[in-house]
Amino acid sequence: MQKNERNNKKMELVTKKPRGTEDKLPKEIYKWHTVEKIARNVAEAYGCKEIRTPTFEHTELFQRGVGGTTDVVQKEMYTFNDKKGRSITLKPEGTAGAVRAVIENGLLNDALPLKTYYFTRCFRYEAPQSGRLREFNQVGIEYFGTASPAADAEVIALANDIIKSLGVKNISIEINSIGCPKCRAEYHKALKEYYSQYKDQLCGTCLERLDRNPMRLLDCKSEICSSFKKDAPMILDYLCDDCREHFENVKKRLDVLGVSYTVNPLIVRGLDYYTNTVFEFISNEIGSQGAVCAGGRYNGLVEEIGGNSVPGLGFAMGLERIIMVMENQKLEFEPEKKCDLYIASFDDETSIYAMELVQKLREEGFWAECDISGRSFKAQMKYANKIGATYCMVIGGDEMNTKSAKLKRMSDGTETPVTLDDKFCEKLNTMILEIV
Ligand code: HAM
Repeated sequence: MQKNERNNKKMELVTKKPRGTEDKLPKEIYKWHTVEKIARNVAEAYGCKEIRTPTFEHTELFQRGVGGTTDVVQKEMYTFNDKKGRSITLKPEGTAGAVRAVIENGLLNDALPLKTYYFTRCFRYEAPQSGRLREFNQVGIEYFGTASPAADAEVIALANDIIKSLGVKNISIEINSIGCPKCRAEYHKALKEYYSQYKDQLCGTCLERLDRNPMRLLDCKSEICSSFKKDAPMILDYLCDDCREHFENVKKRLDVLGVSYTVNPLIVRGLDYYTNTVFEFISNEIGSQGAVCAGGRYNGLVEEIGGNSVPGLGFAMGLERIIMVMENQKLEFEPEKKCDLYIASFDDETSIYAMELVQKLREEGFWAECDISGRSFKAQMKYANKIGATYCMVIGGDEMNTKSAKLKRMSDGTETPVTLDDKFCEKLNTMILEIV
């Protein structure tokens, strides 16, 4: 390769983001703030407290927690050795880290149920497409210490409440029960028997999974494997009495709460830790990656990761996907904040005075701006326009000496005389409220 070509290639690496990642730019960030604020408010109304866990964990956590036969662990993890040779993985999902943290910090010794929520970035080496990224964001909920179906219904209702509070429509909720290890053993036997007759037609991945995790065959997207699904045995016919009763109770409670759902016996989820109730919230407006939220119960996970036998359950909502749906439905996001006042000045002396005024206004909670680039008066006004300032005020020598100036409403040029005294903030506030 020529030196120039090599340099160009290097520059490309510096100036282009990695495939499957996204910049969330200042112009769009108000959308994220809206969703995060609403999700947080709803979670807190249900008594959830925020938990923040590391971006990376020991690889073993995900191997044990998420499961060795899953696509996530087998193919998608960002795993590397740190400088001491320990295997580290960027978290592909939020549950395992939350479970590790509540065990390690003894939170399961406190009042149960423990209800947590989190915002997290996740990393999965998947083939990027619309709605499928290699770095994405989730808001998640994890409940610990309740095996009651009431908790399953509450968690599903919570996810539904976030979606409703965002104003999102046309989301279908699909639920299923994948039973406990006892009834699942029977089901696995039946599945293996059923799929064995097609052994020579199954794809490599399904063949591999047939022995270790046959339920995942129901999730295979290959044309031939998925054609066998329709006649496959269904888990709901294999549930033991306890699991069946649990599922019936969850459904009864969802009915009472007015949460509409359909039972889809093909929902098996791609992560190994689930037991009993599993669910997905699906949009059909954003292409093939329509699951905007998914979760379920995981009664064995805390123990699997080294804690006591404490049941758990939760969900995670993909923020990129839910924002895509909101954009598609042209929903209102909380409007972007605007600069309240831009103070323009002429020279060093007036610019110092403008800076002092701006400082005071900021202390009172206004978004105020003045020139910090040594620009001409004309350029300052252009900038005030560009940032969409609501008001503008010009400070020259006269204004500074007389402590009086004019507030110019940028939308229509209307000017209002003001005195730069103790009452100024109050006056500005009233004038801003008049506009809103
Ligand atoms: P998950 O189904 O792997 O479950 O992911 C949850 C949600 O994250 C998906 O429904 C989707 O909205 C979003 N998501 C997943 N992968 C991607 C991707 N590559 N790009 C963009 N968005 C994506 C879990 O992560 C479980 N930890 C959920 C859970 C919590 N179960 C119990 N507690």
